[in-house]
Amino acid sequence: MSIKILALPGSLRSNSSSNVVLNSLQHLVAPDVSIYVYDSIGMLPHFDDSDPAPAAVVDFRKQLKEADAILICTPEYAFGVPGSLKNALDWTVSSGEFVDKPVALITASSNGEYGHAALLLILKAISAKVTDETSLLIRFVRSKIDKQGEITDSIVKDQLRDVLAALVKNV
Ligand SMILES: Cc1cc2nc3c(=O)[nH]c(=O)nc-3n(C[C@H](O)[C@H](O)[C@H](O)COP(=O)(O)O)c2cc1C
Repeated sequence: MSIKILALPGSLRSNSSSNVVLNSLQHLVAPDVSIYVYDSIGMLPHFDDSDPAPAAVVDFRKQLKEADAILICTPEYAFGVPGSLKNALDWTVSSGEFVDKPVALITASSNGEYGHAALLLILKAISAKVTDETSLLIRFVRSKIDKQGEITDSIVKDQLRDVLAALVKNV
């Protein structure tokens, strides 16, 4: 069985540490697992509960629904969840794409603990299936990647492998 993971980046900066981590995950997955990055978070309109939902939101919800699992990789901004990611998740509260969906949360930041904790609460609110094994906080992330966009910290690499394995196990 092939497994499709949809990755949601929390940073819109193409060279953000989170995107470095996301790219590196592509090299750590088993051959039967594919990671697709949802790259339109910044294009989603601000949440307003409009019905029918805007086309971009309909497409976002469809991609979430079709994925076997979701992987969020994000920095912490101003002790919280980056606004664009929070907005995207708000669009799913009423439609329920996250209910019982296996989710991995990777926070890659300088500190990150507040944003990480806030996101775990949000994921609980939308009934996502997150476990301790699929939750990872990478502190001081910039000291763990190099200029070429490679992860240099072997412990982090092992942790990422473990998170991916646990996520796949939860499918
Ligand atoms: C607008 C902004 C706010 C930030 N706030 C925090 C913060 O509250 N806590 C933290 O650990 N890092 C914070 N950072 C630093 C990021 O964690 C740091 O840039 C990290 O390397 C990941 O961010 P990036 O993915 O955008 O590169 C902030 C960065 C920006 C750009």
